[in-house]
Amino acid sequence: MESLRETIAILDFGSQYTKLIARRIREHKVYCEIYPPNIALNKLKNINCKGIILSGGPASVYDKNAPSCDKNIFDLGIPVLGICYGMQLTIHLLGGKVERAQKHEYGLAKIKVDQKSGIFEGLHGQTDVWMSHGDSISHLPDGFKTIAETSNTPVAAIENEDKNIYGLQFHPEVVHTPQGRKIIENFIGKICKCSFNWTMQSYINHSIQKIKEQVGSKKVVCALSGGVDSSVTAVLIHLAIGNQLTCFFVNNGLLRKNEVEKVVNTFRGHFRINLDYIDAEDRFLKKLKNITDPEKKRKIIGREFIRVFEEEAGKLGKIDFLAQGTLYPDVIESVSVNGPSVKIKSHHNVGGLPKKMKFKLIEPLRELFKDEVRLLGRELGISDEIISRQPFPGPGLAVRIIGPIRPESLHILREADAIVIEEIKKAGLYSKIWQSFAVLLPIKTVGVMGDARTYENVVAVRAVQSEDGMTADWVKLPHEILQNISSRIINEVKGVNRVVYDISSKPPSTIEWE
Ligand code: XMP
Repeated sequence: MESLRETIAILDFGSQYTKLIARRIREHKVYCEIYPPNIALNKLKNINCKGIILSGGPASVYDKNAPSCDKNIFDLGIPVLGICYGMQLTIHLLGGKVERAQKHEYGLAKIKVDQKSGIFEGLHGQTDVWMSHGDSISHLPDGFKTIAETSNTPVAAIENEDKNIYGLQFHPEVVHTPQGRKIIENFIGKICKCSFNWTMQSYINHSIQKIKEQVGSKKVVCALSGGVDSSVTAVLIHLAIGNQLTCFFVNNGLLRKNEVEKVVNTFRGHFRINLDYIDAEDRFLKKLKNITDPEKKRKIIGREFIRVFEEEAGKLGKIDFLAQGTLYPDVIESVSVNGPSVKIKSHHNVGGLPKKMKFKLIEPLRELFKDEVRLLGRELGISDEIISRQPFPGPGLAVRIIGPIRPESLHILREADAIVIEEIKKAGLYSKIWQSFAVLLPIKTVGVMGDARTYENVVAVRAVQSEDGMTADWVKLPHEILQNISSRIINEVKGVNRVVYDISSKPPSTIEWE
């Protein structure tokens, strides 16, 4: 089955745009995967690879440890497209000359393209492109010709028609290259001859088949949080193997208002999934008593979750497989040529389960981006309420109560948070923004209600826009919505007399307050 799927292989030389290349290709209904540059060529032969893209990257081909790939990649008979560093590497490996740059070229450039080339077919002769390079090409190897130029870059695109090798000095994957979409379509369609038929339904069939083969008659457990990723994972696996799957849903006491009922009703009631609900509220809250340090809170919650999970899984007898909602971006991080980044927070989610547990992993979403997971979820009949849910951190409300976590603080935050969500939904903004929520601050301030002095809690409201959670902007919510949120919280939530709006972006702040 697997070998039949047409694939474009992207070798990642560390460009910040590599994921974007993958997104663009999949938008054309062609499957693609990102690989490390040193991938064995045999692997490419085994995946029905229809084309290879060498991504950009920050290095110069002359750097001491410049990433490279097997030179024989150009002799596989598979079309190759080098982008930026990928093009320079192509030229370098095939005997041309790349000049060390005196000056770097960043930003928009006007390019003149040779419309006779297959990769530029249907383009306007003059177009804007996004340049971002240091070195330039000064001499082409035999068989290559220049097919585009700018006033600064005489070799802005190259072609070897006989061997189907192409190179672009600019980035077709970014929105600043308005005809980039067409260039990518030309490469995968006209040159690689892909059939543009990769759909979610084909993905579902493919996954079900694979899960059935992998699991046989054995048992699978899945930690379900009710978030998009674990929900889609559970429903997909359930479709493949039915009651061989058991899901655990752990109530850690840090969930939002009505969350427990919603998750249990949806998965037990609607999907008829074998759902083990574990009420571990007291256990978690006892461990968290008087803890104020954010990292300690996160560690305690992560550790306790693992203990609960181990105990529950132990009750089921022999379990062979653990299902996780790992997504493609997590997988790409580990193949990238870039080193690990500095740890800001220890993340916990239901996927972060113990390595020492001897489960084999099933990760049916590991080839998908978040928006593709949502599409898949809809295709599987999961309600929009779950599919368009904003992200919610594994440690839950614990990282939104600054200071110690007490039952009364949890109650206040739950009520305030429910109002934020309700008002954001009412304004039609819920699925348009990345996250919106309330935070409970560890200070009290003076207020006046009726004629009496009050001394009560402060709630902060946070709403952010983001592509992937890595960076974020605070949302300029209309004043009217802020006003509704504020007056409803102060009037309806006992114990709050002040509401403030968080106007910080990430960086330098983070999305969650802890
Ligand atoms: P920060 O606060 O680091 O959050 O800017 C970035 C995104 O990650 C979510 N987040 C988490 N998700 N486990 C998760 O699954 C966690 O421990 C965790 N901490 C933060 C956060 O809500 C935001 O979307």
